[in-house]
Amino acid sequence: MGELARVGVVGLGYWGPNLARNFDAIAGAELTWCCDERDALRERLAVAHPRTRFTADLDDLLADDELDAVVLATPVPTHADLAVRVLQAGKHCFVEKPLAQSVADAERAVAAARASGRVLMVGHLLEYHPGVRKLKQIADSGELGEIHYIYSNRLNLGQLRADENALWSLGAHDISVILHLAGEDPYELSAHGESYMRAGIEDVVFAFLRFPSGLAAHLHLSWLDPHKERRFTVVGSQRMATFDDMDVERKVTVYDKGFDQSASSYGEYITRAGDIHSPRISNAEPLRLEVEHFVDCVRSGATPRSDGESGLRVVRVLERLQAELERSRRG
Ligand SMILES: NC(=O)c1ccc[n+]([C@@H]2O[C@H](COP(=O)([O-])OP(=O)(O)OC[C@H]3O[C@@H](n4cnc5c(N)ncnc54)[C@H](O)[C@@H]3O)[C@@H](O)[C@H]2O)c1
Repeated sequence: MGELARVGVVGLGYWGPNLARNFDAIAGAELTWCCDERDALRERLAVAHPRTRFTADLDDLLADDELDAVVLATPVPTHADLAVRVLQAGKHCFVEKPLAQSVADAERAVAAARASGRVLMVGHLLEYHPGVRKLKQIADSGELGEIHYIYSNRLNLGQLRADENALWSLGAHDISVILHLAGEDPYELSAHGESYMRAGIEDVVFAFLRFPSGLAAHLHLSWLDPHKERRFTVVGSQRMATFDDMDVERKVTVYDKGFDQSASSYGEYITRAGDIHSPRISNAEPLRLEVEHFVDCVRSGATPRSDGESGLRVVRVLERLQAELERSRRG
């Protein structure tokens, strides 16, 4: 491993301070810069990071030859342009999810990373969650049998956004996990949604994906819902499993449930409802694990798990689902 990774965080709104806190806390990195156009946000965060330099201008970071990496926690429409500037300046780049607002923009960022030979990582946080890693391990082990279908619920009375609908704001998480579990890309996609709070910005979205292997996936996304749910359910031919991020003790549960062929009458099925168990899941903070992974990749030159290519695959699915949402809008 090389020396310390010197990191700058750009965008100090809702999410950026969480990234700054983690980069400042881990052993392998130094939080050298923080950047936001808004004076009040810089002033507020400067108290927590006395050794960090603060600026309103990204160019100050790009001109610093000592700086290794730039972390972008700015609004999604800015991601691709800023990432290209960062990579062309020879810095490694972490971009918050989703990588970009369109496939064309995401491709520009991936091409810039390839041309510069620098690391590009997308903040698909759930892929670093110990519970999702366990679910993936269980699914890949064959314990569930053949995976028939996966569905996700991401519901809350949550943050209303003006520049993104529930598909892009919430669904980026679910799609990254579903693609990660599936290990393949969907060939058939449909989506329906409704906008109640702001015209043209869906508050609730239902999406359905079909994959070549026979796997299907469904997403229910909403920030206008009485429940707070963050759950994936995986239904296999032998067993079923859930990852429930709202459950403190049983994040992952495996259900020995399904249908067995009846021994007495050929062609008949009987239900099997056997043991239910929850493996222990590390309670390490996913954001800390994600930030440590980025720093490891910067220091070693390794390719991140959620690299630009995987971020691009998520944007491809989001863009196709967005087209379906628009096609199926009320007249
Ligand atoms: N991983 C997660 O769970 C998670 C959670 C929330 C948000 N996010 C992501 O984080 C990103 C930011 O979201 P947010 O809610 O914090 O947004 P926000 O609007 O609260 O903050 C963005 C900040 O970026 C600043 N900014 C924009 N352009 C800039 C530029 N060129 N130079 C300097 N500063 C600039 C703005 O002044 C603003 O303060 C989004 O991509 C979002 O999807 C991820």
